[in-house]
Amino acid sequence: MSAPFTRLRRLRTTPAMRRLVAETRLHPAQLVLPMFVADGIDSPRPITSMPGVVQHTAESLVVAAREAVAAGVGGLMLFGVPKDAGKDAVGSGADDPDGVLNRALRLLRDDLGDSTVLMADTCLDEFTDHGHCGVLDGQGRVDNDATLPRYESMALAQARAGAHVVSPSGMMDGQVGAIRAALDDAGFTDVSILAYTAKYASAFYGPFREAVGSSLQGDRRTYQQDTANRLESARELLADLDEGADMVMVKPAMSYLDIVRDVADRTDAPVVAYQISGEYSMIAGAGANGWIDADAAFDEAVLSIARAGASIILTYAAVDVARRLSERLLG
Ligand code: PBG
Repeated sequence: MSAPFTRLRRLRTTPAMRRLVAETRLHPAQLVLPMFVADGIDSPRPITSMPGVVQHTAESLVVAAREAVAAGVGGLMLFGVPKDAGKDAVGSGADDPDGVLNRALRLLRDDLGDSTVLMADTCLDEFTDHGHCGVLDGQGRVDNDATLPRYESMALAQARAGAHVVSPSGMMDGQVGAIRAALDDAGFTDVSILAYTAKYASAFYGPFREAVGSSLQGDRRTYQQDTANRLESARELLADLDEGADMVMVKPAMSYLDIVRDVADRTDAPVVAYQISGEYSMIAGAGANGWIDADAAFDEAVLSIARAGASIILTYAAVDVARRLSERLLG
């Protein structure tokens, strides 16, 4: 070959050059930390299948939340873990103002005010004794329309407790519109909805089941999406935007980067992606075994999710990733 020919390596020669030409940049404020708060425990309880992640007590939750905010993380997503005895068929703990999640939201909003964005998982599975995201009909099937009033009531309880954002993750049709109307009727016009728009039935949720002590019988395939489908997510997106979603999520993230890209190409609304429990644990677990460099792998995975089109990323590694991003900016 005769010169001059294209030398793409010129732009990779030094760290400074690579930094200059980087096409994707991450900021700690784009990261959201999912957190678990449990009822009836005296000290933080490690989640075995998620190395480094715990179920918090109310006290340890506040400390960890302050730490995350200090690290520059942009938001917190809260999940409640009630005692087994507190679960029932309709998930009464979900909209009880004294339920574990609503108490924790109140505590965090009092402590942190508007210094962060407080998000709440709006779904019944943590609170039902059968572990499904909705209420069941006489045949044991998840009843879409009977579930919507439960979500409305749960979202209202979360708004009253101080959530800035409610996050319906149950994949019931009409959930965003139902919640939007209920919030508006009650005067919560400024509470946002982060819709779990494209949410796939995934084996990677496994460790989350331990994290929330879920007693799921069966699976979620009649309401969560089939891995085989791509265009279906475009239809979910249209429906959620039409019903008033403020932000739209794709979940899981790492096995669904094509869906993240599709959704980002189809909307100007903020696109959120969730690196879920199993995706976290694969990296954290391999790192703990010395098989990969977990820090580098988390940084790479989160950057890849951003490159695919997500502007906001939920990850259990948010605090560490945020700290490394800040160090690199200063360094
Ligand atoms: C539903 C919900 C789930 C997750 C977030 N919200 C569980 C599910 O749909 O099975 C999973 C998050 C994770 O795996 O990290 N409440």
